[in-house]
Amino acid sequence: MFDPVSFRGLTLKNRIMVSPMCQYQAGPDGVATDWHFVHYGSLALGGAGLIMVEATAVESRGRISNRDLGLYDDRHVDGLRRMVAFVHSQGVRIGVQLAHAGRKADLAEPIVAPSAVRFSERYQVPHALTEAGLDEVEQAFAAAARRAVAAGFDVIEIHAAHGYLLHQFLSPISNLRTDAYGGSAAGRLRFPLRVVQAVRRAIPDDMPLFIRVSASEWDDRGFTLDEVIQFCQAFREAGVDLVDVSSGGNTPSPPRVYAGYQVPFAQAIRERVKVPVAAVGLLDQPVLADAVIQEGRADLVAIARGFLRDKHWGHTAARALGHPVDPPRSYQRAYLT
Ligand SMILES: Cc1cc2nc3c(=O)[nH]c(=O)nc-3n(C[C@H](O)[C@H](O)[C@H](O)COP(=O)(O)O)c2cc1C
Repeated sequence: MFDPVSFRGLTLKNRIMVSPMCQYQAGPDGVATDWHFVHYGSLALGGAGLIMVEATAVESRGRISNRDLGLYDDRHVDGLRRMVAFVHSQGVRIGVQLAHAGRKADLAEPIVAPSAVRFSERYQVPHALTEAGLDEVEQAFAAAARRAVAAGFDVIEIHAAHGYLLHQFLSPISNLRTDAYGGSAAGRLRFPLRVVQAVRRAIPDDMPLFIRVSASEWDDRGFTLDEVIQFCQAFREAGVDLVDVSSGGNTPSPPRVYAGYQVPFAQAIRERVKVPVAAVGLLDQPVLADAVIQEGRADLVAIARGFLRDKHWGHTAARALGHPVDPPRSYQRAYLT
């Protein structure tokens, strides 16, 4: 877990990633606040090689809430640039997760999705995207990616998991389209693949591109693992460097969970697609996280809530595993035995 790893032109000092976590602390216009500077800045002191910034909206109508971060306007770049520069000053790399909530946007404005099927009673009925609407969303992802590059981010992660717009396209539960963007697995993949291709074209060749997928819908009506493998193969061919493997989110009922419960999905995608993967989900016991890497089941481990409880989870894990701890200079006295 403490060995470096490289993707295209980027080398991470270790295989620990802070998993993306919405903070719901942006201004109503999507602008980063002091909260983001302090939150991500303090995570940069905590021993992870890579921090993935929370789901950041590519369109205003694609925000999960009206306190989401945005990259849908040039005004969003400056606040993020300051945060990125501080993280870099600590020798840590930082990516941003580009997201569109689709039918899971909890907003007053009209919302869009593959089909006019609402997520639950609590949500609006979305408008089904037209061909022109698809073009707009594709361009919004590409424009947001260009802004992320301008802000200095090292990695882009496309959010295609947890029941948000791109997942909605992939899933037969939420995609009832009868045009070329629905139906078979190839049809459901068509729009998300366009987005991946557009983002890949929008960013430099040496910049890694990640994608987060839900590998299971925990629902018999959902897509199969074979279909997920097919999706990931296409993403790989379109220039994705790592698949970040989560699950669920497209139906309101959560699965029963336990330590490492999503690791088998990460391992299956890694083996069958021959693509690097991140494993995530209740991996915050250091011996477990390290074993997932040592056993070759994943290339990165993403830790979410563990880093909220302990901002220095990376150093805590190093200590627990008897690995040399490499804290910021000002904190070194805390680790003298
Ligand atoms: C407060 C919070 C916010 C989250 N926001 C996001 C998000 O923006 N994007 C995402 O892909 N997952 C999000 N997640 C899911 C986490 O990235 C992670 O997949 C999940 O919490 C399981 O990992 P853990 O057991 O280490 O917490 C969020 C989780 C939490 C707890």
